[in-house]
Amino acid sequence: MPTLFDPIRIGNIELRNRIIMAPMTRSRANDEGIQPSYAAEYYRQRASAGLIITEATNISPMAKGYVRTPGIYTREQIESWRPIPAAVHARGGKIFLQVFHTGRIALPDFLPDQTQPVAPSAVRAKGQNYTDEGMKEFVTPREITKDEIHQTVRDFAAAAANAIKAGFDGVELHAASGYIVQQFLTTNANLRADEYGGSIENRARFLFEVIDAMIEAVGPERVGVKFSPQIPFNDIEEADADLMYPYILEQLNERHIAYIHVADYSAKAHAKLRPVYQGNYFAGAGFTKETGEALLEHGGADAIVYGTKLLANPDLPERFRRNAWLNEPDQSTFYVPGEHGYIDYPALEELAATS
Ligand SMILES: Cc1cc2nc3c(=O)[nH]c(=O)nc-3n(C[C@H](O)[C@H](O)[C@H](O)COP(=O)(O)O)c2cc1C
Repeated sequence: MPTLFDPIRIGNIELRNRIIMAPMTRSRANDEGIQPSYAAEYYRQRASAGLIITEATNISPMAKGYVRTPGIYTREQIESWRPIPAAVHARGGKIFLQVFHTGRIALPDFLPDQTQPVAPSAVRAKGQNYTDEGMKEFVTPREITKDEIHQTVRDFAAAAANAIKAGFDGVELHAASGYIVQQFLTTNANLRADEYGGSIENRARFLFEVIDAMIEAVGPERVGVKFSPQIPFNDIEEADADLMYPYILEQLNERHIAYIHVADYSAKAHAKLRPVYQGNYFAGAGFTKETGEALLEHGGADAIVYGTKLLANPDLPERFRRNAWLNEPDQSTFYVPGEHGYIDYPALEELAATS
């Protein structure tokens, strides 16, 4: 069985190891969703990971649920991304762009004309969302119309095509963390009576329309998808997850995409889902070097996704190789603008040079 340091082929590209950087929102873009020039340095520093998955990126103005998140739907946004894959490729790394639409998690504060967000049904999520003025209660969304569903599917496809134009190796659909795709999958946020609600097949329809449109736009080998079965974040309830996710994975088996990425802190989902899926299976959330290696060793996943450890340790593969100590992530700088807490986590060799 492979180790964390063995290469793996996904689609038409080879990753040099099986240590994958998790998508992580860092809120350094400006209000127009344009990345600052120093974002290229952040991703470049982490290019020794087998694959980088970028922070979640808005596919349209209505997708935006968080301050200073980047977009991939205007010419200026696409241009601002361009140096990022270029910098990662120059160091021999690979990088996918994660695309999302936050649905009912968006606050009017982030939407054009302070409009109401759209979601499968007019059901408000319990809880609050982060803004620079403090936490704010979620609002009741408006039920998305069928025409808007079709437009959103086209927006995901256009975002995928734009990512390839900007130089990315592929795109990851964010179908996790309680955003619009998972809202359709749920038993509590989707109360629709039409072909997008009710049965498992109907609740999964939007997911497959989006995936198929993205495949059509950029090819299956450039598409990945992230799930977080039953993680309650953003008020998600999935009463029939035990049936829903095996159904989804069986349907995905026919599509031959680059990989699926499953986040589950309890790691219980992997034992159930890994055997159902025939392609590349990435497991994430809460892994250490040891637990990651153990899962690979038993064939429980093909690669391991690390979030906070890669955020705080740009040279994580090298630190794992040497069994070196790790920098601790500083939560106070996760989502604030500026270079501090973003591009100033030291690599081992920088520490050696200064000591
Ligand atoms: C600062 C931060 C931002 C995150 N943003 C995203 C995101 O944009 N998209 C996403 O799919 N997950 C996001 N996540 C979740 C991570 O991808 C990952 O699933 C989670 O951190 C668990 O992995 P870890 O224990 O290795 O950190 C974020 C996590 C953190 C810490």
